[in-house]
Amino acid sequence: MKLIDRYNRVHNYLRISLTDKCNYNCIYCNPNRLDSKLTKKNILSFEEILRVIEIFAKELEFKKFRFTGGEPLVRRDVFSFFREVQKLKNIYGFSTGITTNGSLLKGRTDELKASGIDSLNISLDSLDKYNFHTITKNDESERILSVIDESIRSGYSPVKVNAVIIKGINDLEIINFVDHFKDMNVNIRFIEFMPFGSNGWERNGLINYKEMKNIIEGKYSISALSSYKNSVAKDFQLKEHTAKISFVSSMSEHFCYSCNRVRISSMGKFRLCLFSEGKHEINFKELFQKNYSDEEIVDELMEAIQHKWEKHPEPEELSEMMSNNMMSIGG
Ligand code: GTP
Ligand code: 5AD
Repeated sequence: MKLIDRYNRVHNYLRISLTDKCNYNCIYCNPNRLDSKLTKKNILSFEEILRVIEIFAKELEFKKFRFTGGEPLVRRDVFSFFREVQKLKNIYGFSTGITTNGSLLKGRTDELKASGIDSLNISLDSLDKYNFHTITKNDESERILSVIDESIRSGYSPVKVNAVIIKGINDLEIINFVDHFKDMNVNIRFIEFMPFGSNGWERNGLINYKEMKNIIEGKYSISALSSYKNSVAKDFQLKEHTAKISFVSSMSEHFCYSCNRVRISSMGKFRLCLFSEGKHEINFKELFQKNYSDEEIVDELMEAIQHKWEKHPEPEELSEMMSNNMMSIGG
């Protein structure tokens, strides 16, 4: 059975937030340093998450699971959890990934690979120490760069490096990113700045993907690659170099028509879209407490997916939706 919505979009990719806690306070995500609302009682346990994964893989033919945060690696015993996921992976044949700030990966990338995590997306918004601190409130740019090197050596090929570009903050670094990574096994992804409740988004801060692409083409030649069907990124090969360059154009050219994603927050709430406010949220924690069977849960999901909107609203409207936040859904 497949999870198909009113617009005939087949959903087979689940992004699971393992925690809304993070050891960084990035200006585009948690500028007001809000605290986590998680308690032992309301967070999905690893056992519950494994059940969720099994339901999606077995009953709904999901092919990909990505773990996000907050910062997923701040959750205790997360590597043992990944090894448990690997057992399900061996049965159902799906792939897995994590999106992380990389700070807790130092010395652990081999272990990550061995625990069965297939793809690794590391956020790095600046190569400059001072700027890195302005953005993340941490002093770790060199640490993250060394983690990226280490990840490549552990066999992540390529490592995806996510840089959210904000005008006046790090847009002057676009070329530096390409200079730095051009001969590495890296996919540099330049991401348009997106609005979330009180993250200070302004139209002025948005530098769209065409502008970013122009900047790069001022120095480098790039050629378009065919991206996978449901990709959020427009991909390019940097000519005469190994790195790939991509743009995530959520704001200037959304990709809702090919969306195959659904999400679960760390508290177990099912989300139809990164930006959805959750009017049709199912709460897995509650369903488990009420002893719903897998079949009943699948029925709930099939009903909920019918409420997925065709596309998300325009950026200005999104920035007014204060209840939406990145911390609890992780991208
Ligand atoms: P893979 O395709 O699995 O490698 O991952 P990804 O690129 O989708 O995931 P990642 O977590 O690295 O996210 C990269 C950027 O894309 C982040 O800024 C996310 O917020 C954004 N993104 C991911 N999924 C969606 C989505 O469904 N809609 C929108 N608008 N943006 C998304
Ligand atoms: N706009 C664009 N991307 C964002 N991310 C977090 N907040 C935003 C935002 N406001 C990115 C992170 C990470 C991924 C999960 O989403 O940098 O790479």
